[in-house]
Amino acid sequence: MTAPSDSPKAAALASAAADYMALEQRFGAHNYEPLPVVVAHGQGAWVWDVDGKRYLDFLAAYSAINFGHCHPTLVGVAHDQLEHLTLTSRAVYTDQLGAFERDLAHLTGKDMVLTMNTGAEGVESAIKVARKWGYEVKGVGADSAKIVVCDNNFHGRTTTIVGFSSDPRARTGFGPFSPGFMHVPFADAEALEKALGDPDVVAFLFEPIQGEAGVILPPDGYLGAVRNLCSRHNVLMIADEIQTGLGRTGYTFGCDHENVKPDVYVLGKALGGGIVPLSAVAADRDVLGVLTPGTHGSTFGGNPLACAIGRAVLDIVRTGEYQERSRRLGETMLHTLRNAPLPSITEVRGRGLWAGIELAPAAGPASKHCERLLERGIIVRDTHATTLRLAPPLVIEEEDLEWALQQILEVLA
Ligand SMILES: Cc1ncc(COP(=O)(O)O)c(C=O)c1O
Repeated sequence: MTAPSDSPKAAALASAAADYMALEQRFGAHNYEPLPVVVAHGQGAWVWDVDGKRYLDFLAAYSAINFGHCHPTLVGVAHDQLEHLTLTSRAVYTDQLGAFERDLAHLTGKDMVLTMNTGAEGVESAIKVARKWGYEVKGVGADSAKIVVCDNNFHGRTTTIVGFSSDPRARTGFGPFSPGFMHVPFADAEALEKALGDPDVVAFLFEPIQGEAGVILPPDGYLGAVRNLCSRHNVLMIADEIQTGLGRTGYTFGCDHENVKPDVYVLGKALGGGIVPLSAVAADRDVLGVLTPGTHGSTFGGNPLACAIGRAVLDIVRTGEYQERSRRLGETMLHTLRNAPLPSITEVRGRGLWAGIELAPAAGPASKHCERLLERGIIVRDTHATTLRLAPPLVIEEEDLEWALQQILEVLA
């Protein structure tokens, strides 16, 4: 779709792109609706399609590419590890896992770490740990544990997790679902306090900023209130930092905005450097210590390749460079968007290099604007039909950011 069609070479390229799309359509399950672009190469904040046209990536694989495509240090570490050892299962020790666990424990300020692969597995693991903690430490009666979650949450796609989703598309047709979850409105400390009055509640699982819901920020003071309420009711505060963590919001963790320490961090996405899936649960010994041999596991969880890359990611995070960059460039981004006098924009929400642009009904579906932005060389995706979600890699150059914002404002004008 991107190559001019008046030369035989361009026509051949266009047909190559069409062939790749047709392959996915023919042989792949239709659980996604991709933009009509076939990406073949990436570097930093940019990707190139099979025709050689380049696009600025304003999605960053939903924050899994925080440090850019093919970050040279991370690719170097991956290459090196590939030549040594990639996978053992947890039947033996490796020279990579312990060092990664130590480094992540230090970054989170927690005693222990559990490594998994995808974000959803990380959340599932935190749910299992919270329930077991509830029975063994808090003293909740067998099989009675409840976990409080937020309306409009997004924590992944497994059956347990979609069972407590508010999104009918995520749930419908996938029941029966796991019991033991209670909902409260997001950012409503009063509702949370009421829910935590139930003595069977073992945890509150939440996103510090709701991403999939449209980059919804709680009011200042909410995270602190959650911390106090969870402590007061002896309930684990579980922060799903899979998207808010590792620099996206201008902080190492989304909870740092209020200087709050949850009991349990769930991390994923950028932890694998955009190279491998790597998720983790970090907590103190009285919590993660409930896991004993045979109670939980994963063949690939904590594999040496992922751990080597994960350690290099943590080295990058520890410098603070990208948190600062996200804060600084995020301010530019939010300021530019908020000061654009466009009737098509009703609200701009965000923190760091992460924004949700809420569109007026008259602006039409957000997906239409994504297609127009793609034609201009920017990859943006919508969420919930009316929100454009912006999350460029944190390595984006300032001039590229400014160029993209100009394009976005022109498309929305
Ligand atoms: C906050 C949050 N939690 C969990 C997940 C699930 O992660 P994964 O897709 O790696 O399973 C996501 C993915 O978008 C997410 O944003």
